[in-house]
Amino acid sequence: MSELFVAKAEELADRERRIVVEGALEIGVFRLGDEFFAWENICPHAGGPVCQGRIMNRVNEVLDSEKRSHGYEFVEQDVHIVCPWHGYEFNIRSGAHPGEPKTQLRGFTVAVRDGAVYVII
Ligand code: FES
Repeated sequence: MSELFVAKAEELADRERRIVVEGALEIGVFRLGDEFFAWENICPHAGGPVCQGRIMNRVNEVLDSEKRSHGYEFVEQDVHIVCPWHGYEFNIRSGAHPGEPKTQLRGFTVAVRDGAVYVII
């Protein structure tokens, strides 16, 4: 195992990402608040560069007891990345597809030490 330097922690704002490359391996490192998450930049659907997609909160349709729609709302705690190839979404905290939790990004451990962010590969 080795550590790959990502950035100084202060250089990554909330909801920002950095793509780091080591040989053929590309990893997207994301900051959400004071937490960091790292996922391989390969979408499990068809291999797209998932970590380079849009970052947005999960969208829920608001239904009443009779299943009538009352519009949509963003879910504050669920931040997703949207694969730019076909739109699969993945939760940045868990790496899981919200509709198929077994469809999962490959994750890496992130270490923050002396104000610097590293990913363990
Ligand atoms: S390759 Fe990512 S959604 Fe298809």
